[in-house]
Amino acid sequence: MSLSLARPAEPLPAAVAAEPAAAAPAVAVAGVRFAWPGRASFALAVDWFEVAPGERLLLTGPSGSGKSTLLGLLCGVVVPDRGRVEVLGTDLAALSGAARDRFRAAHLGVIFQMFNLLPYLSVLDNVLLPLSFAPERRARAGGAAAAAEARRLLARLGLEADGVARQQAARLSVGQQQRVAAARALVGAPAVVVADEPTSALDRDTQQAFLDLLFAEVARAGASLVMVSHDVALGRRFDRTVAMGEAARVTPGKSAP
Ligand SMILES: Nc1ncnc2c1ncn2[C@@H]1O[C@H](COP(=O)(O)OP(=O)(O)OP(=O)(O)O)[C@@H](O)[C@H]1O
Ligand SMILES: [Mg+2]
Repeated sequence: MSLSLARPAEPLPAAVAAEPAAAAPAVAVAGVRFAWPGRASFALAVDWFEVAPGERLLLTGPSGSGKSTLLGLLCGVVVPDRGRVEVLGTDLAALSGAARDRFRAAHLGVIFQMFNLLPYLSVLDNVLLPLSFAPERRARAGGAAAAAEARRLLARLGLEADGVARQQAARLSVGQQQRVAAARALVGAPAVVVADEPTSALDRDTQQAFLDLLFAEVARAGASLVMVSHDVALGRRFDRTVAMGEAARVTPGKSAP
């Protein structure tokens, strides 16, 4: 799968260029090379990887194969050494760090593998957090009524029990924290949802309920979904399953070819 990254090498005709960003792929990765600073043993090369608007994609692969690293690149949490990562037509590397954070808050819902909840904030404030940096997303979540939307999502995730929304995130079980992270990713209908093994801490019934909610919310928003899981059987619920080895080459060394 070799690629020409330079997809938009030719200038687009004005009529096409003026089209709304919705015409752009949700995610387009081209010619990317990435190595963690100071780690010579792992380097990721992604020649071409694209997610269509509204597409639901399952990313699988063994532990250590770079799935979370790839998701980090898609979210702009890390930037590539070379190549481009575009989300909704925006080149993430062209944004300053602060602008990238704002872009992520506005357009991406991210369930990190380690959840990344703020332990000293309440459950409700954790869910509402991305809206603080994204006025349009806050408006989509109901503006002043965003807390009600957050509670609706928490209830759908089985966290409606009295007091949970007001509890400190640090006091929750791991499975509860994972569901809070999911509500935070979904609130305000972001256009791209990225979920890194979001069901790993859930029992079977909770996992099914979680996936039902995830798919319903993603469909409601017309969002794209990129989800990592070791459970390839989940693939039947997705439009496409991509094994890490198809999306990327992993080589030792700082400079992947
Ligand atoms: N923050 C980091 N700093 C340095 N190296 C890292 C960092 N995160 C991951 N790595 C390294 O990058 C490689 C790929 O890790 P990554 O977390 O992307 O794999 P993964 O496929 O998500 O694994 P898992 O299924 O266990 O979550 C590993 O060698 C790991 O040690
Ligand atoms: Mg991982």
